[in-house]
Amino acid sequence: MNHSRFALITGASSGIGNCFARALAERGKSVILVARSEDKLHRLAAELGGAHQVRIEVMPFDLSVAGAGKALADAIKARRLETDWVINNAGFGARGEFWKIPLARQLDMIHLHLNAMMELTHAFVPAMVEWREGGIINVSSMTSFQPMGYFAMYAATKAFMTSFSMGLAEELRPYGVRVVTLCPGGTRTNFVVEGDTANRRRFPGGPQPPEEVVREALASLDQGGGLVVPRWPNKLTVFAQRFLPRETVAKMAARFSAPPRP
Ligand SMILES: NC(=O)c1ccc[n+]([C@@H]2O[C@H](COP(=O)([O-])OP(=O)(O)OC[C@H]3O[C@@H](n4cnc5c(N)ncnc54)[C@H](OP(=O)(O)O)[C@@H]3O)[C@@H](O)[C@H]2O)c1
Repeated sequence: MNHSRFALITGASSGIGNCFARALAERGKSVILVARSEDKLHRLAAELGGAHQVRIEVMPFDLSVAGAGKALADAIKARRLETDWVINNAGFGARGEFWKIPLARQLDMIHLHLNAMMELTHAFVPAMVEWREGGIINVSSMTSFQPMGYFAMYAATKAFMTSFSMGLAEELRPYGVRVVTLCPGGTRTNFVVEGDTANRRRFPGGPQPPEEVVREALASLDQGGGLVVPRWPNKLTVFAQRFLPRETVAKMAARFSAPPRP
């Protein structure tokens, strides 16, 4: 691991991104912290800076705005912060019937989950290829493996993410650049799912601590990258659905995701 270069973490103010920041600072890796909540980022930076010998940069950005990923990459390059790890993690969910969720919110999600990921990856990969080292962790989701009624846009953006990330991994492997496609199931964070209902049916197993998710992702990065579905019940679910017709899987997923009938 190169200690003079930075790891960029989007969504570092909370949950999985916050745990990535802590874990990397502990390993001696300098970090660039990105999210909208500037106060939370500064608090985290002060805490990590006091505990570890690393450089910490705070860059508040709203990545759901068109072109924000490119603007962030330009700002990082203008500050001459060499970046060899990119963790595309920032995200939110929106549950409900697609046509009832405001279109603007769904377009925000596309910008945040997809455009920002593409813009940041496109901006930083060329230097990683030149250095013959680097790492990308794309935080997708277990929902990426099946269509999911009542969570359709979220699952579709994550399906894009998983597909793109796994394809990119193969392109970058010959250059020594590692890609982790991280697909967590329920994780105990502040994850915002707009339109969620308290008494909706949930997948069994209970939420997983984000520290465990991050540990598995970093272990995979250390070993060369790959697809990570944390926790064995989640692995089993993803594996088992390959033996069912896709329409059956979609029906089952929508039944789980649907709001309770009045
Ligand atoms: N928790 C789960 O059950 C679960 C399961 C599977 C996958 N995931 C994925 O894990 C990732 C991290 O989520 P989490 O569970 O850690 O939730 P979280 O605690 O809510 O963290 C989400 C992070 O994204 C940032 N963010 C949200 N909108 C943003 C925007 N427009 N611009 C910049 N940053 C933004 C938030 O910061 P600000 O609000 O300060 O901007 C926050 O730091 C997401 O991509 C999510 O889809 C979560």
